[in-house]
Amino acid sequence: MTTPRLGYPNLGLGVGLRTAHFPYILQHNPTVDWFEIISENFMDSGGRPRYILEQIAERYPVVMHGVSLSIGSTDPLNFDYLNKLKRLAETSNARWVSDHLCWTGIAGLNTHDLLPIPLNEQTLKHVVERVRVVQDVLERPLVLENPSSYVTFANSTIPEWEFLSLLAEEADCGLLLDVNNVYVSSVNHDFDPQQYIRSIPAHRVVQFHIAGHTHCGTHIIDTHDDHVVDPVWDLYRLAHQRTGGAATLLEWDAKIPEFPVVHAEVLKAKQYMNSEMVVKPLNSEPEERGEGPVTVPHPLAHIVPEIA
Ligand SMILES: [Fe+2]
Repeated sequence: MTTPRLGYPNLGLGVGLRTAHFPYILQHNPTVDWFEIISENFMDSGGRPRYILEQIAERYPVVMHGVSLSIGSTDPLNFDYLNKLKRLAETSNARWVSDHLCWTGIAGLNTHDLLPIPLNEQTLKHVVERVRVVQDVLERPLVLENPSSYVTFANSTIPEWEFLSLLAEEADCGLLLDVNNVYVSSVNHDFDPQQYIRSIPAHRVVQFHIAGHTHCGTHIIDTHDDHVVDPVWDLYRLAHQRTGGAATLLEWDAKIPEFPVVHAEVLKAKQYMNSEMVVKPLNSEPEERGEGPVTVPHPLAHIVPEIA
């Protein structure tokens, strides 16, 4: 049995750091437990973004969350990128570094999208080997997030929760369990989200993500543009019960409201810790599940927030 969370601390309830909130945070010093930064927004930039990050990192714990590692790609790993990632982790005193179980490009092209991989023995071996290399370069455990997805591959043979469990154990890495992504994919692919949460090795879960999404009737798009819906909170409660708690981060990347609104949303998580779970059936109407009818946004609009 690995040490819970690989020895990483439970930082409490955090918020994704977004440009729109820089002035408020620097001026008001809100009582936030921690911030998550998008690695790519800072690793190549000096000047004001870097200055802001230094200010934030002096006052709050910071965690790095990347969108370009492309751990599932067949392109060679980008060691220039990895070395920049490592340097940023050192200078920002990042508590850990995370990215997604996905691929983002091929032949040197970055699609700026988090694309799903076929889930089978071949890709498991491929990703395990690459995670080990990344961890050797970073000299710390990598934390990988379950992505939301809209399609699956005909040659996928392993359920996603099982794939992540095998990956975490074989590569000895951490997991970022995005509870909203579990819910989004469970509707899109018709699986039981509770079984997913129950199947993930709890001691590997370093962090949770929660977020809002857009329910389109027949499918859900992971838009990060609204409040967290009740079914996702119920899954969060289950995840909290199973893991004993882990650092929890609210993602809000589009139609971003004022900082206090975003902060208040993540603080709702307190209500779902150590309370009984009542999950409404998945075949109920979206409105019954706490979700209203919506218009359909561009499916890729949410993927790379704020990258210049
Ligand atoms: Fe996420």
